Amino acid sequence: MDRGLDKDGLFLEDASARRRRGDWARAKARSKAKNREKSRMKPLAIAREERARPCAEDVAPSRATRNGRLTKGIFTFASAANALSKSANGATFANARAARVRGAVTITAAHRPDADAEDAGKGQRVMIIGGDGYCGWATALHLSKRGYAVSIVDNLCRRSMDDQLGFNSLSPIKGIHERVRKWKEVSGRDIDLFVGDVCDYEFLGAAFKKFAPTACVHFGEQRSAPYSMMDRTRAVFTQTNNVMGTINVLYAIKEFAPECHCIKLGTMGEYGTPNIDIEEGYITITHNGRTDTLPYPKQGGSFYHLSKCHDSANMLFCTKAWGIRTTDLNQGVVYGLSTDETDMHPDLVNRLDYDAVFGTALNRFCIQAAVGHPMTVYGKGGQTRGFLNIRDTVRCIQIACDNPAPPGEMKIYNQFTEQFSVNELAAMITEAGKKVGLNPEVITVPNPRTEMEEHYYNAKNSKLQDLGLEPIAMRGEFLEGLLKQIITYKDRVDQRLILPGVNWKESASVAEVIAK
Ligand SMILES: NC(=O)c1ccc[n+]([C@@H]2O[C@H](COP(=O)([O-])OP(=O)(O)OC[C@H]3O[C@@H](n4cnc5c(N)ncnc54)[C@H](O)[C@@H]3O)[C@@H](O)[C@H]2O)c1
Repeated sequence: MDRGLDKDGLFLEDASARRRRGDWARAKARSKAKNREKSRMKPLAIAREERARPCAEDVAPSRATRNGRLTKGIFTFASAANALSKSANGATFANARAARVRGAVTITAAHRPDADAEDAGKGQRVMIIGGDGYCGWATALHLSKRGYAVSIVDNLCRRSMDDQLGFNSLSPIKGIHERVRKWKEVSGRDIDLFVGDVCDYEFLGAAFKKFAPTACVHFGEQRSAPYSMMDRTRAVFTQTNNVMGTINVLYAIKEFAPECHCIKLGTMGEYGTPNIDIEEGYITITHNGRTDTLPYPKQGGSFYHLSKCHDSANMLFCTKAWGIRTTDLNQGVVYGLSTDETDMHPDLVNRLDYDAVFGTALNRFCIQAAVGHPMTVYGKGGQTRGFLNIRDTVRCIQIACDNPAPPGEMKIYNQFTEQFSVNELAAMITEAGKKVGLNPEVITVPNPRTEMEEHYYNAKNSKLQDLGLEPIAMRGEFLEGLLKQIITYKDRVDQRLILPGVNWKESASVAEVIAK
């Protein structure tokens, strides 16, 4: 027997180790007692902090309305909550509270003929981070119209990026304060606005305490792959902004709203293009005779996509470690401009990007076709991806809000409705374009990205449909309508912004980029 090891190979304890162990056990008991004491004190501590740190830049919601809605929602579903809080697994007060919220909202849209009713979201308070952006703005209005209490958190950095790079949205979007005021005017509904950065934890904590969300939809990231590949500074910004922002959101939930359901936007691009089917988040693997269900392998194709992979790993870890409730939505490429709500007034129009940095494939092709610029297919055009209409994005988020994950479990959905290759998109737009009097052309440009141009692609996407999503197909009539809409904004297009300007292989330090 080795010195210090017993017959089973475990370390033998000497007297000092025993003493250390004794001390450690006493310390553990002391810290347990301290924690018990702390958790009794917590509500008071938070209340004190709340008074001490008001949020400087927000527009304060009416506390009475806010509490009224929340109380009403909980009261209505009290019986479900009671049943859950009496469950045999010894639910704590916090769990019972969380259960009340779950009881209030776990109804799938498939069984909800009232999903579009004016009070469909009664009792839910949804914080939309990135609510001034393309997906976030449409989602905020969609949920607000249906009676969810909505707040927007955004630092408006997307607007600054456009200013820095000389880009503009094709559609003339209004400032966020004006948008929110107009929404109140046309719908009678309030949206609370918190202007600030999720990477600033003090700001985020104050927003959480003030709004008390039951769900937090996190769209608030730098979302362009080309932007993240422009130079080292932007690569670092993308990963810092996205990864740190998401960690802050997870901490804010743990600290200020443990029952809040975190719905985080990831991307289908996290999976890359493997030569096997892409599952919805998890894959069951048998290896050397043993079987396990594991997160599906991720192969992000840019610093942006990689930031999303890191987010997913951090979220899964926090979900398990802290028992919080999270949903990761691996979204496909979103297309379209209108939702019923953004169409309610011209001042509510959503943004539509056509530049080579922020513009996404289908929207960009339609804009190119509408202004008489050939559609720019990168390389062979066999790149295949998942797509969905912006009208489906907002419904998917509503479904996710209505179906929170159980504590300690991260749900993962592949949020897209159809798959197309770039060549297929160009062909569909050519056909639709001819029907509205255009003469669309297609050109091949050297692919600036590092990606496979011909590959196998078969991604699963049944979970959201099982929960009631009725996908909108990308039909000819839709494309014709989008083209007509775009033609009305045709004069706003700056053709210099259309061709790709960011090459994956040439990404370098800013100094080197300037020197070139
Ligand atoms: N648009 C798509 O086709 C698509 C596809 C897949 C995934 N997604 C994901 O959906 C989300 C929304 O995309 P989008 O197209 O609406 O992007 P967007 O750029 O239009 O909106 C993002 C918003 O987040 C805000 N934001 C960014 N960093 C922030 C921070 N640190 N603090 C506060 N606000 C911040 C921006 O100002 C902007 O208003 C992103 O996470 C994106 O990765 C989008």
